[in-house]
Amino acid sequence: MATQTTGVRSTGPNEHGYRRFQLGEFTFSRDEYFVHVAWPTGSHIMSADAFLRALQRDVAWGFFYGIVNFDGVIGTVNHYGTVDLFAGRYNDAYRKAELDHVENFPSPLILESFQAILDDWTNAGFDPFASPHETGGAFGPKAGENRRATTRRRVTARRMVGVPGDEPLRSDESGFPINRQFVDVPQDEPEIVAEPGFEGQVSAFNLFAYLSRSDVTWNPSIVSVCQDSLYCPTTEEYILPVIHGNDRVEWFVQLSDEIHWAVEDRDTGAVRARVVMKPGDVCAMPADIRHQGYAPKRAMLLVWENASPDLPQLIASGKVPTNPVEF
Ligand code: PHB
Ligand code: FE
Repeated sequence: MATQTTGVRSTGPNEHGYRRFQLGEFTFSRDEYFVHVAWPTGSHIMSADAFLRALQRDVAWGFFYGIVNFDGVIGTVNHYGTVDLFAGRYNDAYRKAELDHVENFPSPLILESFQAILDDWTNAGFDPFASPHETGGAFGPKAGENRRATTRRRVTARRMVGVPGDEPLRSDESGFPINRQFVDVPQDEPEIVAEPGFEGQVSAFNLFAYLSRSDVTWNPSIVSVCQDSLYCPTTEEYILPVIHGNDRVEWFVQLSDEIHWAVEDRDTGAVRARVVMKPGDVCAMPADIRHQGYAPKRAMLLVWENASPDLPQLIASGKVPTNPVEF
């Protein structure tokens, strides 16, 4: 597949105030409730709020690991340098009917295209990262913009959280209040007793207190890095806005409350499992599935990623299994 070199083109505002965008042979337009996506062999409709929540994460995560399905039809595949934009590619019915469509773009080009759509279509009162209960609606005619929300960067620790120089997210002075659903989370910090000579080199912090102040949902932040091992805890409420088709195994540790996972075959979308995770549960998501989480109330989740760039190739070639454990 040839990589496209032409960026997004847009037309002036429609009768609802929103611009229409053309990227390759895909067109994107929105009205007061819906987003309409069209490509040479088909078209698709999504609720504007669900579309913007998915788009926000695809943009902020730099297309993430593997596949980001906005829903069962459209999404992106990260080739780490280029990105596929697809419709129906991972949907058995679309494939069989030969209605699927894929185009490949250099990552910076599709990123700036998606940023332009997100910027134009997100109204002032809507924060795509917030839980539905903590933000206004996405609907209606165009009304301002919310760049503070849509250009937000993931909090990445410069060093392990807790050591001098980390991102400050740990007190009322940080500007991050304790979330309404985590007011019962103890805020005390651990006492550190270092061996003589190691003072200042040993650190610990209260991860629960840290997460209780998260102002976003479904947005893992990297709090520790050990070679390719990334600890990415996050707070979840309502529905993960993307259906993630990973290109590697991913571990989940349920730190609090409850998340229900719908697990499907990564390529066809066929249902494979439902997983209900309670505090203390650990699960490994295989590398050949896709998953979407549902959190009935705000929950703390630790996502553990292996960021090795070699993994997609090792798994695709069969050198490394898609399951981390054989029972
Ligand atoms: C995932 O796809 O594994 C994922 C993404 C975002 C989250 C949690 C899990 O907040
Ligand atoms: Fe995932």
